[in-house]
Amino acid sequence: KKVVLAYSGGLDTSVIAKWLQEEYNCEVVTFTADLGQGEEVEPARAKAQALGIKEIYIEDLREEFVRDFVFPMFRANTIYEGEYLLGTSIARPLIAKRLIEIANETGADAIAHGATGKGNDQVRFELGAYALKPGVKVIAPWREWDLTSRETLMAYCEKHNIPVDFSTKKKKSPYSMDANLLHISFEGDQLEDPWTEPEDDMWRWSVSPEEAPNEATYIEIGYEKGDPVSINGEAMSPATILATLNKIGGANGIGRVDIVENRFVGMKARGCYETPGGTIMMKAHRAIESITLDREAMHLKDEMMPRYAKLIYNGFWWSEERRMIQALIDTSQKYVSGTVRLKLYKGNVSVVGRQSANSLFDSKIATFEDDAGAYDQKDAAGFIKLNALRMRIAAQKGRGFLDS
Ligand code: ARG
Ligand code: SIN
Repeated sequence: KKVVLAYSGGLDTSVIAKWLQEEYNCEVVTFTADLGQGEEVEPARAKAQALGIKEIYIEDLREEFVRDFVFPMFRANTIYEGEYLLGTSIARPLIAKRLIEIANETGADAIAHGATGKGNDQVRFELGAYALKPGVKVIAPWREWDLTSRETLMAYCEKHNIPVDFSTKKKKSPYSMDANLLHISFEGDQLEDPWTEPEDDMWRWSVSPEEAPNEATYIEIGYEKGDPVSINGEAMSPATILATLNKIGGANGIGRVDIVENRFVGMKARGCYETPGGTIMMKAHRAIESITLDREAMHLKDEMMPRYAKLIYNGFWWSEERRMIQALIDTSQKYVSGTVRLKLYKGNVSVVGRQSANSLFDSKIATFEDDAGAYDQKDAAGFIKLNALRMRIAAQKGRGFLDS
């Protein structure tokens, strides 16, 4: 009887680590990942040891996270409900995968996580776990126990000698937060009133546009087959690219959103997000696609986009349809290489240049000047007339829009 727990080292999952041993009388394996949340993960080792844990996994997954999850998603330009860049949603499938791989390695038959019964994260972890290990048992303490307030949780700590500096107390944040290389999120507390503007000191990764420099910052992002590979001519690894864009974007007040979103379980929830690098990548990727993609290829992937965003949001990464959509998207990216030049200024990202050896943009054809026969304007008359044919027939049959 062994369970692998997604362990952050914080108060909640520390209580869970103890609770699982007490309540289920099972061996607990902890798994802590560095996904770029900006906090040391190594301290989780001593904390887990103090809780009596023998098998402790601590891993740096930053490159895998960006290379195999964030970048593939950005090839599709996914945005949920017009605003949310899916920063938390895209990290869950990777955590689910490692939980199951570790379960298989250690001979565990169960996994556990610290997500509540009200949210999306439980769904994402568990759909992934079931898809990757059909017979796995899932333990979600928040859906079972009665430690539902800070007070009862602290009392449990006292009773079981869990040092309270395990809490995230020093952070002093009242929000439910989640961070990784793609974003940091805030929910709860004063955000539970959708009319209340968040206090400026809630934000962690970006300055407000008002405090951003008065001078614009220019950057160039190099793309290869749909993925960013360099900044200002310097080749970088996926995680380094995203970390670098987060810094530059944050310094220019880029990537804040404040939304009410529809959770998969049915409720509406208020969330604030900082996604500086992702916001820049979204703009840049669309710009490089604008000169390298065929029109119908672009429109086809645009039609898939909301569906793909919803699929990722709802936790179906490890599904057959996900693999199919990704294959379609990846096929479209064969020629999406080149360079995009961007101007960052007080919360805005503007594209000011794009170039590619694979560009379909032909100035000889598009020019307002003499095109020397590259395009015969006379062709347009027949093109328009045939497109109008069915509307002319309808109008002649009395189905027009204007009164006769
Ligand atoms: N509402 C966002 C989502 O569903 C963020 C969730 C944040 N999760 C957390 N454990 N604080 O993707
Ligand atoms: C949680 O409920 O654990 C966080 C919010 C969410 O998963 O949507």
